Amino acid sequence: MENFTYFNPTRIHFGRGQIAAIEKELPEKSRVLLLTGGGSIRSNGVHQQVMKALGGRTAFEFAGVEANPDYDTLMKAVEICRRERIDWVLAVGGGSVLDGAKFVAAAVPYPGDPWEILVTGGGKLQSALPIGAVLTLPGTGSEANGASVISRRSIREKLAFIHPLVFPRFSVLDPETTFTLPERQISNGVADAFTHVIEQYLTYPAHAAIQDRFAESVMRVLIDEGPRSIKNPTDYDARANVVWAATWALNGAIGAGVPQDWASHMIGHELTALHGIDHARTLAVVLPSLLSVQRTTKGAKLIQYGERVWGIREGSDSERIDGAIERTRGFYESLGLRTRLSDYDVKAAVASEVAGRLRARGVLTLGERADITPEVVERILRQAA
Ligand code: NZQ
Ligand code: ZN
Repeated sequence: MENFTYFNPTRIHFGRGQIAAIEKELPEKSRVLLLTGGGSIRSNGVHQQVMKALGGRTAFEFAGVEANPDYDTLMKAVEICRRERIDWVLAVGGGSVLDGAKFVAAAVPYPGDPWEILVTGGGKLQSALPIGAVLTLPGTGSEANGASVISRRSIREKLAFIHPLVFPRFSVLDPETTFTLPERQISNGVADAFTHVIEQYLTYPAHAAIQDRFAESVMRVLIDEGPRSIKNPTDYDARANVVWAATWALNGAIGAGVPQDWASHMIGHELTALHGIDHARTLAVVLPSLLSVQRTTKGAKLIQYGERVWGIREGSDSERIDGAIERTRGFYESLGLRTRLSDYDVKAAVASEVAGRLRARGVLTLGERADITPEVVERILRQAA
């Protein structure tokens, strides 16, 4: 196991009716920016519950944060915060709204051009407004981590930043708020969370037994409860398990002290920037192909994963690796996520385009062994055609 420092400061309020906990989390005299998405929270009672919990506090609402939150939209929220001397940001929505809130919270006190926050990956941040969250779409893990991914459509970029200052101070996870999710979104969430585990687990053995067994449990829960929850959207217990599994997939615990990959995410973000494909769907396209290209260096872990997660115990090593990759592709497909670029009308030429964009940005090595060069990225995407 590698050395690590583990820190997670987010207080979680989990379960029915927990939106009311906002009342005790926000100081009475706070000036709050309520950041929201395209309107789902107005039709499922979440907005009403939040307003009730806010009570008499001074609150301004900024609605309209889009899926894959956009820099230019968020900069309008930054202006409001500065003008109205906002001192808390409350995000109510899916991962996009939460990520948007993290960017706003960091950008408000930022002395320079806020785009720098993304270009430097958060490296220079010195302060941020405190953030609270009500999550209505499980998947990204944004409710209990310090990461945020922002798109800038005007220049076709999608970049991430990570910083301890933007962990939400608290997050409300009420599974009932997710009952209104369309099938496409809950399927995306299950697939995204599953891929987060893979990015931190399917690398090379580090003899980190707690992290491995936890990761395998989170994947098994998503495999068991995910389809159940998609089929019966109002089954509280199935949904509650999906919500909690998604938090554990990316709250830092399973990734502590182990090598991590994240190449599928980096490549996937380029596909969203270029073609607007849902985040989780980009992962369903990239990951099976990446596993196949990296099957030798990831071989030992692929065999462990096949055995412990999918029960594959027979055959040669090569057959077991094939089986593990096929089960992974099959899982995405069973959730309704197609796994080929052609399923999204994207031509194979995107392979060299993505490789070129990474090269231009100086991203020359990805993956747990830093062996995924732009040439390998191109091969991965060609195989995903
Ligand atoms: O905007 P509204 O009207 O709320 O509609 C949203 C949106 O259209 C809808 N929705 C959310 N909750 C709902 C609901 N509809 C009905 N009922 C509800 N309860 O769902 C649509 C998609 O929402 P979005 O927030 O975009 O989805 P998701 O949570 O999948 O977030 C995706 C974003 O998160 C980033 C992705 O790159 C992408 O930009 N990620 C963030 C990460 C992080 N912070 O750690 C890690 C991830 O790997 C990921 O990259
Ligand atoms: Zn993701």
